[in-house]
Amino acid sequence: MSYPYQITSYEQYNQAYASCEKDPQAFWGSVAEHFRWKKKWNKVLDWNFREPKIEWFSGATMNITENCLDRHIEELGNKPAIIWEPNDPEEHHRILTYKELLFKVKQFSNVLKNNGVKKGDRVCIYMGMIPELAIAVLACARVGAIHSVVFGGFSSQSIADRLQDAKAEFIITCDGAYRGAKDIPLKSVIDDALIACPFVKRVIVCTRTRTPVSMIKGRDVWWEDEIKKVETHGNPDFPAEEMDANDMLFILYTSGSTGKPKGVVHACGGYMVWANYTFVNVFQYKPGQVHFCTADIGWITGHSYIIYGPLSAGATTLMFEGIPTWPDAGRFWNIVDRYKVDILYTAPTAIRSLMAYGMDYLVGKDLSSLKVLGTVGEPINEEAWHWYHKNIGKEKCPVVDTWWQTETGGVLISNLAGVTPEKPSFATLPLPGVHPCLVDENGKEITGNNVSGNLCMKFPWPGILRTTYGDHERCRLNYFSTYENLYFTGDGCLRDENGFYRITGRVDDVLNVSGHRIGTAEVENAINMHAGVVESAVVGYPHDIKGQGIYAYVIYNGHHGDETLARQDIIQTVTRIIGPIAKPDKIQFVTGLPKTRSGKIMRRILRKIAEGETTNLGDTTTLLDPGVVEQIAGLRIKGTLIRIKD
Ligand code: PRX
Repeated sequence: MSYPYQITSYEQYNQAYASCEKDPQAFWGSVAEHFRWKKKWNKVLDWNFREPKIEWFSGATMNITENCLDRHIEELGNKPAIIWEPNDPEEHHRILTYKELLFKVKQFSNVLKNNGVKKGDRVCIYMGMIPELAIAVLACARVGAIHSVVFGGFSSQSIADRLQDAKAEFIITCDGAYRGAKDIPLKSVIDDALIACPFVKRVIVCTRTRTPVSMIKGRDVWWEDEIKKVETHGNPDFPAEEMDANDMLFILYTSGSTGKPKGVVHACGGYMVWANYTFVNVFQYKPGQVHFCTADIGWITGHSYIIYGPLSAGATTLMFEGIPTWPDAGRFWNIVDRYKVDILYTAPTAIRSLMAYGMDYLVGKDLSSLKVLGTVGEPINEEAWHWYHKNIGKEKCPVVDTWWQTETGGVLISNLAGVTPEKPSFATLPLPGVHPCLVDENGKEITGNNVSGNLCMKFPWPGILRTTYGDHERCRLNYFSTYENLYFTGDGCLRDENGFYRITGRVDDVLNVSGHRIGTAEVENAINMHAGVVESAVVGYPHDIKGQGIYAYVIYNGHHGDETLARQDIIQTVTRIIGPIAKPDKIQFVTGLPKTRSGKIMRRILRKIAEGETTNLGDTTTLLDPGVVEQIAGLRIKGTLIRIKD
């Protein structure tokens, strides 16, 4: 496998950027030549941000799995596609070669077909990090079904919401999942979700933990039994469905500033090119290297940089079932040592957490195989950047700080490892085809350097989202209506004297907790479901490990006098409604919330108080009742109402 479009010098980066700017159609057309298409495109790009309408490679047909699997067989058939490291280090790891992975994907495609899954159907996947998850994702893509992977940390209510929104009639899950010392009863969570989703026709259950599960006749089937039914003597066959480049490939739900997560939709052709192009260029992947992305496939990072990016490039991708701190905080380093990992891609929150465990866990671990380090998901503070660079990369590995979003499909702003300059805590420069701009509140572009503003994009790149499932207007309103003719990212950003970008965090009501996006409105809705809660307001506050923690102000009139219990009940409610990832870190009971005369909650003030500021709270004269602020700040100082439950 060679990558003729891999940029290998700073000069070449500048040339690629300029040539893509001059003629994006010719640029992306020539990159796309290196993929397998069933039919070529008539037009590379057709777009307007008004509707929005974005089409890449119109008229082309293809299947992403032929690009991720079939086309590699001749050259890489016996090379490892997936190395799987189980949660328990004592359990045997698994290696699937490209040939074996294709075999299994074809087999499971037959299972899907036997169970009634057709092109265009939505299939919800709720599994732990086992190779069968990657197989399920790829089999959906092979039959042309639209996968919607839901992260294992979401509750049954969240799954039900997603199933209903996508009208998904099929589910692929496991009996349970292992995560560190915990077993998560996935099938039982699905069973609860299905009470509200009678339209679901089939649940395919893969065995992992062998936790007892209920299996409903006519609806639930075992993965292993279904495989037996399609077993063949020779190679199974399953010709890949011919997909239009602009057909939907997947839906991935993500939080926004409104109460309900939106189903971000990516399309087959453009997403494939972008996931591959960014993988090859940002990480500077060289054939034969082992790429270890520590994300979960339930998030976009796992989609693009565990599955589609690496596999489309014929890479070896390492998939890890466990967590960084179990059985101890040396787990990542053991994995790097054992499999001679070349590229390690993780989140700042993991780096900060491992940093806090100290250096003991690095002793005796050979990390000399590492060539490139990466981070993603949230701004990385300089201290964590330097720790990572010095202690993990031994000052010889470039660190790529990759900025992107679920909606962007792949990295938009990042240094290219060892090729373009790096700067701690800066994502640095846009990839070719990416045209960032900073705007002020009125949408006026802020030009020049040493400036900051809201980060927007002026032009589409191949991996841009196409719609939000079932509601195109929502997509327009969320991303394309704040500023005319621009895609708005929701992030604040500064551009330094050299034109390097540093993302400073969200400017909307979205929190980033341990690299996970959580809408404050979503958490408030969940808290308000608790019978004793009158009203609530949720803000983020700086958290040493998580980046941001969740701080909830709650007006409570429940009958329980015991505040600790009341807090636990509220946390339990949030866990039920959204999932454990959205649990508030701090809950402060208040008697009122600071509101303007028009009834809008002044979050700016609440944010300051959550950060520990109790005196300089800015202008409170526009508030309906300025006294409320003093009261909230006073209670914050006294601390009597703040008991933190971890
Ligand atoms: O605020 C930015 C932050 O994560 C948001 C996107 O979250 P999500 O869609 O869940 O995707 C995360 C993985 C791609 C962005 O709006 N973010 C992501 N990467 C960075 C970042 N903030 C700063 N630096 C980054 N490298």
